[in-house]
Amino acid sequence: MCLKSMGYPSKPGTSTAISGAIFVIMGLTQTVFIFTNPQEIKTMRLTADQLRSAYLNFFESKGHKIISGASLIPENDPTVLFTTAGMHPLVPYLLGEKHPGGTRLTDVQKCVRTGDIDAVGDSCHLTFFEMLGNWSLGDYFKKEAIAWSYEFLTQHLGFAPEQLSVTVFEGEGDIPRDDESIAIWKSLGIPEGRIYALPKEDNWWGPAGTTGPCGPDTEMFIDTGKPACCAECRPGCRCGKYVEIWNDVFMQYNKTAEGAYEPLKQHNVDTGMGVERTICMMNGCETVYETELFAPIMAEIRALSTLQPDPETALRAARIIADHIRTAVFILGDPKGGVKPGNIGANYVLRRLIRRSVRYAKLLGIAPGYTRTLAEIIIANYAHVYPELDANRATVIHELTAEEERFEKTLTAGQREFDKVATALKQHGQATLSGRTAFKLYDTFGFPLEFTEELAAEQGLAVDRAGYEEAFKKHQEASKQGDATFKGGLADNTVATTRLHTATHLLHKALQTVLGSHALQKGSNITPERLRFDFSHPDKMTPEQIKQVEEIVNSVIQRNLPVTIETMTIEDAKEKGAVALFAAKYGEQVKVYTIGDFSMEVCGGPHAANTGELGGFKIQKEESSSAGVRRIKAVVTGVKG
Ligand code: SER
Repeated sequence: MCLKSMGYPSKPGTSTAISGAIFVIMGLTQTVFIFTNPQEIKTMRLTADQLRSAYLNFFESKGHKIISGASLIPENDPTVLFTTAGMHPLVPYLLGEKHPGGTRLTDVQKCVRTGDIDAVGDSCHLTFFEMLGNWSLGDYFKKEAIAWSYEFLTQHLGFAPEQLSVTVFEGEGDIPRDDESIAIWKSLGIPEGRIYALPKEDNWWGPAGTTGPCGPDTEMFIDTGKPACCAECRPGCRCGKYVEIWNDVFMQYNKTAEGAYEPLKQHNVDTGMGVERTICMMNGCETVYETELFAPIMAEIRALSTLQPDPETALRAARIIADHIRTAVFILGDPKGGVKPGNIGANYVLRRLIRRSVRYAKLLGIAPGYTRTLAEIIIANYAHVYPELDANRATVIHELTAEEERFEKTLTAGQREFDKVATALKQHGQATLSGRTAFKLYDTFGFPLEFTEELAAEQGLAVDRAGYEEAFKKHQEASKQGDATFKGGLADNTVATTRLHTATHLLHKALQTVLGSHALQKGSNITPERLRFDFSHPDKMTPEQIKQVEEIVNSVIQRNLPVTIETMTIEDAKEKGAVALFAAKYGEQVKVYTIGDFSMEVCGGPHAANTGELGGFKIQKEESSSAGVRRIKAVVTGVKG
């Protein structure tokens, strides 16, 4: 529902024309309203809850298995910091591995994308969003995918066909224009004038990393009815006339390391529909911030504000605060846990989000402690869909408050320092803030570099990034990771990571043998170089314990035990004694990896075929991760694979 900016729901029948219609939602035939909003978008009004259910039920009725969305923090993918699309957790299956749920899947996936962080504050860019998706793993292709998208949009969501515009791939090099998709859209009744063939930058998706499945896509846009910004205005234009709500990707190529596109044996469909944008369009909202998912947060921000810069600045600031704190709540509340504000990788992204919001809160004169107030509202708004937020409420609030307090302490002094330097620079006609100053702002006042850059840009100044990097040499690696990795990437299924993955299972079991059954996995992260494993244990491990664990793992490696995989329900897996920590939902099919007679764990894989492949195992570091949680970093020596 769209709750208008004053905090009241827009009243049906006043500014909007309503008529009753019969539609099938969530398996029930219901009378719902079609309305025409001020921008003349004809649709039904569905809440986000109704939209999620309608989507899943629709694709279930088309033979799809409803699967659980994955954690926001990718389990075995060192190339991304967060899950950025519904397809990410499904990469092994898009590459040909058999999925326990079959060849047609559908889900709702929590996603974080920070690539567009600077655009947040406009009508529709968000750093966290929910993606509805349906997949064909070598099953149906363009004809069914497009027809179902059209059926769902027009018959189940009630969008008027004339409101829809679509884009397709225009072709490039050896890859021809996607005439097949054009013909399908036409056969469904979309006239040629509303089918746009666009270049690769618009209508090609993937690979998410440098190699892997990719292909042309067809994107669906709602014409908001706003006047065109110029003669060239078309779907994809950023003026806001056209809003993209759904993308059907036809994965028919594999991009090789050499940059060639070779046809994929398995043709997949990967689609993604944005929940926030879709309900925005369905409820006549001007922006996502007026939807029910944001309105209570925005209302609270308005209530807490004591300063009123110019209205445009105030609105942008409020949106940034709402977006960033919502994202932070989802990251901190993730069932996999482990991401806390910090200086590296995902932790750094989280820190940037919270600190950026603190600065905008200052701009609006919002008193300290607001992160807690907003988090409570966000948790209340979402707990029925994502119970993990409620379960992790204490952590979410503790971490947000602590980070807010840490930054509060230095923000004012840092801002003064910045203002002093900026004024001096401008007086001397200089346009660049030195790397040394940027580093000082980081080191002494906790200003993330991007934050300083943003302040500088507001004053018409640039920041000497190279100089900053230089000054920051010690942390250079970490900083790079924080910036580059979240751009997206495919799971690194190299031999090295596969072996480390198997080593992780061996380590987990060995720790329980040496330390006791309480030593359970709390987190795992694998890069091609090393594994990192967090587990519950109150004390520092003794050198003897470390040695014992290494010996156990090495003896299993030497036994050359086979690693086998079976698919079964989660209940059967648990009954067989499999470790199932990040358990899937009741009744769901899971993969169980068994390592000889040594270990059995529910896991997504991939794994080495045989423990002998690991060569040898060495613990490099044992340290504290957080209260009651220890962290091990370890390597395998490997054999020629
Ligand atoms: N992976 C595609 C996207 O992110 C479709 O879901 O748009």
